[in-house]
Amino acid sequence: MTNIFTSTHPLVAHKLNYLRNKDTKPKKFREIVREISALLVYEATTDLATQPVSVETPLATAEGEELKEKLGLVPILRAGLGMVEGVWELVPTAEVWHIGLYRDEDTLQPVEYYNKLPVEPTVSVCLILDPMLATGGSAVATVDILKRWGVTKIKFVGIIGAPTGVALMQEHHPEVPIHIAAIDPALNDHAFIVPGLGDAGDRQFGTG
Ligand code: PRP
Repeated sequence: MTNIFTSTHPLVAHKLNYLRNKDTKPKKFREIVREISALLVYEATTDLATQPVSVETPLATAEGEELKEKLGLVPILRAGLGMVEGVWELVPTAEVWHIGLYRDEDTLQPVEYYNKLPVEPTVSVCLILDPMLATGGSAVATVDILKRWGVTKIKFVGIIGAPTGVALMQEHHPEVPIHIAAIDPALNDHAFIVPGLGDAGDRQFGTG
């Protein structure tokens, strides 16, 4: 699968164990989500376009490069919220556009409950942030929303995925790269990723 980038970075692998561990408390869990998200986005942004820029050092003029594209961070509520801060530290000029989706427990279909995108797109590249890619319904729906908004360059950044979610994204949005820390083997009967890390929203917000 060409568009799936599973991180091989040792720091990501090391930190992921803390998220999986059922004894990790919300404070530590949020801290690690923040750190892993930054590492994944570092890897996901190597192809961002730049433009030349001249900078005056105390001694002379230096030729450099600056980001050309305006980045939008799109956390899917709730669980994606915890991924924002670490990424925003790296790209402080990014805009943050929240999308509220929850998964209906019976149908497993995503239900949209928050979307305040303005009519015209204000960014040229969107990074969707959501720790879990389970059935893929939420990710596909969010890409649909962003495409309708008019953004064409979209990437999904998650922490743990399942083959089902990857397959649904490949079916609906094959051009959207998926950057993720791990792809786990399966979903259980409630569409939870196994072994996974549990419910990423509950574990961050202490609501489990
Ligand atoms: C979880 C998770 C993803 C979604 C993934 O959210 O954070 O957004 O499910 O599942 P999918 O790939 O099958 O769509 P949830 O509905 O539990 O909402 P929450 O983040 O508010 O807890």
